[in-house]
Formats: sequence, C-alpha cells, structure tokens
Amino acid sequence: MAGRERLICASDELVDGGPGVRFEVDAPPEEKVGSGGTALAAFVVRHQGRVHAYLNRCGHIPVELDWQHGQFFDSAGLYLICATHGALYDPASGRCVGGRCNGRGLTALEVTERAGTVYLLEG
Ligand code: FES
Repeated sequence: MAGRERLICASDELVDGGPGVRFEVDAPPEEKVGSGGTALAAFVVRHQGRVHAYLNRCGHIPVELDWQHGQFFDSAGLYLICATHGALYDPASGRCVGGRCNGRGLTALEVTERAGTVYLLEG
C-alpha cells in the first residue's frame, strides 16, 4: 500500500543551494519518551535541481543545523553545514563529509516533487 503524501511547500520556494523550508515530522515511537514533544524538526532543500529532506539534527550533538532560520548551506552553497561546530554534510545524501559529525550522517526523509509542489512521503 502506498504511503500518504503531505504538502511541504511550493517548488519555487526552494532555490538550488539557497534557503531551505523547515517543517516537522512525528517522532518515531522509540523517540516518544516521557511527556516530551512528539514532533521533530526537519527541513527540505534543493541541490543540483533535486529536493532532499532530512531531520534537522546534527550527527555530532542532536541540535538543529541552521545558523539562521532556514539557512542550511555553507557560503558556497555546496554543503549543508551545522551552525554549532561546522560539520559538513553532502546535500544529496546527508552523508558526513567533514568536521565533528565523525561519520554520522543526517537522517533522510522521503520527498517528491510534482506539478510545482514538494511533498513529504509518510508511512
Ligand atoms: S553540534 Fe553540529 S558539529 Fe557539533
């Protein structure tokens, strides 16, 4: 059975190497501990024409990456960068490519783009 799609943003909100769009996803059951929140921060960016989405959580320490709201790319627009200590991630895969992420990449989320709209694939 196909999963559900959730509208995230219009395609033209995502410029290659430019600001991302933040959104939230439900935490998986193993992360719903105690009375804490059940939503996790996530984001979508465009890189080399394609959209990619990840949990907004660094592989070094689980903090959000953006140094300013929605700013995920380094100054050259080539890598995703963590604002806290500068870990670098491949925008296409979320793989750690440098810095303190020590091989721990980002958690990818499935997204698709159709008819000028970006959707998150859930379930
Ligand atoms: S918290 Fe991201 S590099 Fe340290």
